[in-house]
Amino acid sequence: MNAPVMLRMTSVTRVHGQGAAEVHALRGVDLEVRMGELVAVMGPSGSGKSTLLNLAGGLDTPTSGTVTVGRDDVGTLDAKARARLRRKHVGYVFQDLNLVPALTALENVTLPLELDGSSARRARAKATAALATVGLDDLADRFPDDMSGGQAQRVAIARALVGPRRLVLADEPTGALDSVTGEAVMRVLRQRVDAGAAGLLVTHDARHAAWADRIVFLRDGVVIDSTGAAAGPDSLLHRAVRA
Ligand SMILES: Nc1ncnc2c1ncn2[C@@H]1O[C@H](COP(=O)(O)OP(=O)(O)OP(=O)(O)O)[C@@H](O)[C@H]1O
Ligand SMILES: [Mg+2]
Repeated sequence: MNAPVMLRMTSVTRVHGQGAAEVHALRGVDLEVRMGELVAVMGPSGSGKSTLLNLAGGLDTPTSGTVTVGRDDVGTLDAKARARLRRKHVGYVFQDLNLVPALTALENVTLPLELDGSSARRARAKATAALATVGLDDLADRFPDDMSGGQAQRVAIARALVGPRRLVLADEPTGALDSVTGEAVMRVLRQRVDAGAAGLLVTHDARHAAWADRIVFLRDGVVIDSTGAAAGPDSLLHRAVRA
């Protein structure tokens, strides 16, 4: 598989806290995700999965090592440039969703587009389409606090997929979903990746990891195992079966 590398992490470490409180959340992680590739990250609680995603999404910078998204070396960008990278290119489904409670579902999904200068009308049309892909078009005017956990989670997924996101990061996006809705969300994510985005998905669920081209296992901040290399004929076969 020779698609361009969208995300590259090289010898990445991340130390949280200082002195006696120091936590080595990542210790020398190497990872590449190409366009059209979906990589699942699995590992026990505290193994560094969310830390890894935060670094990949430019929400955080490594203590040492490099993280590049497209051509941008995230560690050398200033905060403003990192914010721009996130707004324009990175879709993020946070583990705790991070929806804005004062905004409706539609307004939450519209927000990244409007922040990036889209006209209100175009942003609305795109956001409506994104809500429809997760089956929530009829709840567009509902506030997150008036939704079930699974519905709010789907709003967060729509927000991550709206617009031309090149890198989609999802931290347990199916955690609050029943199995049918979880499968539907995985299908949407897979379609977006097949259309050319790079995807990194944290999951505890082997059935959802099975949608990925590769699984990376983390333990104590180290990649301890990784299934296969890039997508081979086997995974194409799986994809054909899923389609
Ligand atoms: N802001 C922080 N300050 C201090 N320590 C932190 C911080 N964020 C994470 N850590 C620590 O870093 C380690 C990795 O945390 P991380 O959130 O990446 O784990 P995780 O694999 O996502 O876990 P979970 O499955 O529970 O979400 C943990 O030991 C955690 O306590
Ligand atoms: Mg986490």
